[in-house]
Amino acid sequence: MKPPPDGDVDGTFGPNAQGAPEGFIMAMTLDLSRWQFGITTVFHFMFVPLTIGLALLLAIMQTAAHRTRKDAERHDKWDHMTRFWRRLFLINFAVGVVTGIVQEFQFGMNWSVYSRYVGSVFGAPLAVEALLAFFLESTFLGIWIFGKGRVSARVHLASIWLVSIGTMLSALFILAANAWMQHPVGYKVVGNRAVMTNFWAVMTNSTLIGSFLHVLFSALVTSTMLILGVSAWHLLKDRRAGHTPQQVFATSAKLALVVGAVAIVATMFFGDNQARIMERQQPMKMAAAEAIYNTQNGASFSLLTIGDLSGNPIFQIRLPHMLSVLADNNWDGPVQGINQIQAKEVAKYGPGNYKPILWVTYWTFRIMVGCGILMLLLLAAGLWLMRRRRLEQSAWFLRFSVFAIALPFVANTTGWIFTEMGRQPWVVYGLLKTSQAVSHIGTGYVVTSLVGFTAIYSLLAAIDFGLMARFARGEGETDDHDDEPEPEPGDNRVPALVY
Ligand code: HEM
Repeated sequence: MKPPPDGDVDGTFGPNAQGAPEGFIMAMTLDLSRWQFGITTVFHFMFVPLTIGLALLLAIMQTAAHRTRKDAERHDKWDHMTRFWRRLFLINFAVGVVTGIVQEFQFGMNWSVYSRYVGSVFGAPLAVEALLAFFLESTFLGIWIFGKGRVSARVHLASIWLVSIGTMLSALFILAANAWMQHPVGYKVVGNRAVMTNFWAVMTNSTLIGSFLHVLFSALVTSTMLILGVSAWHLLKDRRAGHTPQQVFATSAKLALVVGAVAIVATMFFGDNQARIMERQQPMKMAAAEAIYNTQNGASFSLLTIGDLSGNPIFQIRLPHMLSVLADNNWDGPVQGINQIQAKEVAKYGPGNYKPILWVTYWTFRIMVGCGILMLLLLAAGLWLMRRRRLEQSAWFLRFSVFAIALPFVANTTGWIFTEMGRQPWVVYGLLKTSQAVSHIGTGYVVTSLVGFTAIYSLLAAIDFGLMARFARGEGETDDHDDEPEPEPGDNRVPALVY
């Protein structure tokens, strides 16, 4: 099916979308709306992976505390650990929810044509996300925060596991909507709208399964790198062996190393799997990631490519045959080139430029993979030191670990920029172009909301960062609700928040 011409999905824009000055205004509205969505999404995704990963790690820590309850020393260590990381989790959770809500407003305001087009497909997964996953997450989070000593230890433990399951289900349903944009399945087009015909097909989309596993493990990597970095900072500050905080942070660092090492290998494995799916479903994104201009057998893997402004290579360093091996498991396997895919897309969808911005896709892909390799090396070095019982004494490793907290955030951000920018000019691949999806609103509105959101989000990020840094340093511990004495048996007072 050929998509309708730019700006004519619902007839609102008509031919004016192409002509000046209305065409120019629409182009401005489009660019600014894209910037706005990009900025707010990057901010939002600073918090999401930490919430998913920390919830699971807290569930593991609390389970260890529960299982060692008959051994006072070991129990105290795990319990102290759970209470310490819980504060960071709660701050992050609160800010993450606030930043997520704004995303929904933008669909209606900036992307109304898109919302109408995809509404019938997205309605079901997003409703299930809100009604099932988010309710599960929030309800049991409440029980976990306020229920200690008021519900049995088992129910309290079960509640953090249910919070963790809720965060993962949330990710699954949100990613289902995104995967549909990358690879639409289980729908038919009726008039100017896509209508869902098969919910099961949407939920078992191969793109969704690949992306869900990649995101889930990268979330675990993100939280383990935070735990490792903060623990390393404490271990550098206080080297009194046998001192309780030292033991707590040494155990936290070891847990982060073991879970982090498994998670980074899984992230890379599923990332590689996603690259193969992408080669089949969005070959232009793959070719753009690798700067392969012409179809080749035995294609080389680019380590560095510098191109001119029209996207042609000037200087390249490449590893022979490696891309064919990665994309096709075959030394001489074919990899399609940008120029040939462009010609095929013109034949299929009509005249237009089907290339994404090559330097963005090329560099974001490299930065994501590069951060992954650095984390893999760091975690492997940490495991080696741990085995030799030299982890707590290795100042160079601990210092590196503190700086490495930034790596997963950089990888997550570049990962999303690559996924979304690499799909351009499409917002829904093969069905709806981004230029067709934007609302017919004045540029002034978009400028105002862009400036407003950026300012508010920067403020929220600064507050979040300030609070996280304060609690990570161990300040403000006495404010914690957990430090209140536990209620006596028979004390049925209701927590104040319930009123
Ligand atoms: C060898 C390492 C890696 C490979 C081969 C890889 C591969 C990929 C690919 C192919 C995509 C795009 C998928 C698409 O557009 O359909 C992607 C996206 C993404 N990557 Fe990676 N990745 C790697 C490492 C990492 C690391 C270390 C992180 C974070 C800690 C990360 C986080 C992300 C995120 C958040 C996305 C966007 C969501 C998605 O499309 O799945 N990646 N990655």
